[in-house]
Amino acid sequence: MPEIRFRSGESIPLELHKVRIVQKLDLVPIERRAEAMAEAGFNTFLLKNKDIYLDMLTDSGVNAMSDRQLAAMMVADDSYAGSKTFTRLTDKLTEIFGTEYFLPAHQGRAAENIIAMTFVKPGCIIPMNYHFTTTKAHITRLGGTVEELVADEGVKITSDHPFKGNFDLDRLEALLKEKHDIIPFMRIEAGTNLIGGQPLSLANIEAAADIAHRYGVLTVLDASLLQDNLYFIKTREEAAKDLSLREITKRISDKMDIIYFSARKLGFARGGGISIHDKELYLRMRELVPMFEGFLTYGGMSVREMEAMAVGLEETMDIDVISQGPLFIKYMTEELIKRGVPVVTPPGGLGCHLDATRFIPHVKQEEYPAGALAAAVYIAGSVRGMERGTISEQREPDGSEHLAAVELLRLALPRRVFTLSQVMYAVDRISWLYEHRDLIGGLRFIEEPSSLRFFFGRLEPVSPWPQRIVEAFRKDFGDSL
Ligand SMILES: Cc1ncc(COP(=O)(O)O)c(C=O)c1O
Repeated sequence: MPEIRFRSGESIPLELHKVRIVQKLDLVPIERRAEAMAEAGFNTFLLKNKDIYLDMLTDSGVNAMSDRQLAAMMVADDSYAGSKTFTRLTDKLTEIFGTEYFLPAHQGRAAENIIAMTFVKPGCIIPMNYHFTTTKAHITRLGGTVEELVADEGVKITSDHPFKGNFDLDRLEALLKEKHDIIPFMRIEAGTNLIGGQPLSLANIEAAADIAHRYGVLTVLDASLLQDNLYFIKTREEAAKDLSLREITKRISDKMDIIYFSARKLGFARGGGISIHDKELYLRMRELVPMFEGFLTYGGMSVREMEAMAVGLEETMDIDVISQGPLFIKYMTEELIKRGVPVVTPPGGLGCHLDATRFIPHVKQEEYPAGALAAAVYIAGSVRGMERGTISEQREPDGSEHLAAVELLRLALPRRVFTLSQVMYAVDRISWLYEHRDLIGGLRFIEEPSSLRFFFGRLEPVSPWPQRIVEAFRKDFGDSL
């Protein structure tokens, strides 16, 4: 997708695709939105689609699929064992990653479960640039701990560093030197989700992997967000600008022992799996697939999704396809900056990230500013985002709150799903809310599950602030939705 300059001088991301199937959406009045938010316990995960106009919760499993993906789904070979579809998928993974073995799993966290059950033992440490919620839950459930080694720049909200997902290589080296005997593997998360979809450079990935191997530690790549990371390596890293996307992918995978991914993200489908170079490592994990997922040639996935994934992986090697997300996100981020709204910079992949700490500095961290902002943005615009702050953390073993390093509201842009006018609508409502930010208050838990509380926890506002937003909206917008 190119950025095209209009005569006015403005740069616009221009779609290199056309829309051929559409889904009707509803936009309910703000009074209903406030009610719906209360019914959902001020947790955007618990909202129902009928009450949502722009669903920016995630890109997971909701990216638009291409005509070729849909066509491939029609020729899927349904069979419990040995399907041609599985062979087509594994051939594609071998072509792209150069890996010989593949273990299918129903989604990314299932792959994480298999890897964690194989390698994580009580007392072990798993270093990573930054944690992801489901990854950390699997590791800690098995008695391991996560050590985050992202460079300081990674948790700076505003920065012009092109690779905020990079490891602090000195800290990595020091940790491995001292503790390699209790480190079964290190995890590298491409397109680091929780810090704003921020990439690692090819040089940093290669250097981190070399350090791990020097200390006999396995390298595991979480490639769920690899497509955005590939785009940023290609467009931001001088030394990689003449490499093709295939060459960059191969350079990365050559340094990895294990590559796993959520195909709800990578491959624009639904599913997941683990690609492995080495037979012995493959055999160590293999038996967990039929036990938890399904037989080895489908692993809990539908063959139709596997066909779509194979085509989606091929399309991931096309810069016109993978640039759409980052360029729309850049556009949305820059439009918000023009209106003074605090956002994460530079724009990353996955979505546009609002900085709740600066948006509503009067809401203290113990009252979950990112969660409160998620609720307020939904009420103001029927735009559903995802809290990526303290609610997404787990409490410490002693029950105390673990305050997140950053309080973000992620507004994901599923690939090729929204139009630019919808993006501009979201920008308009968010900037209106920013002008009325003093109205937003905090939240407190009324039902708090002990694990993955952000999925099903319920909260309530600490004061009647949602009602105040409704009143201000009516005053400014009259009868408008
Ligand atoms: C970086 C990363 N790893 C793992 C996962 C888990 O994948 P899934 O949702 O398919 O279980 C996700 C999902 O969002 C992710 O972003």
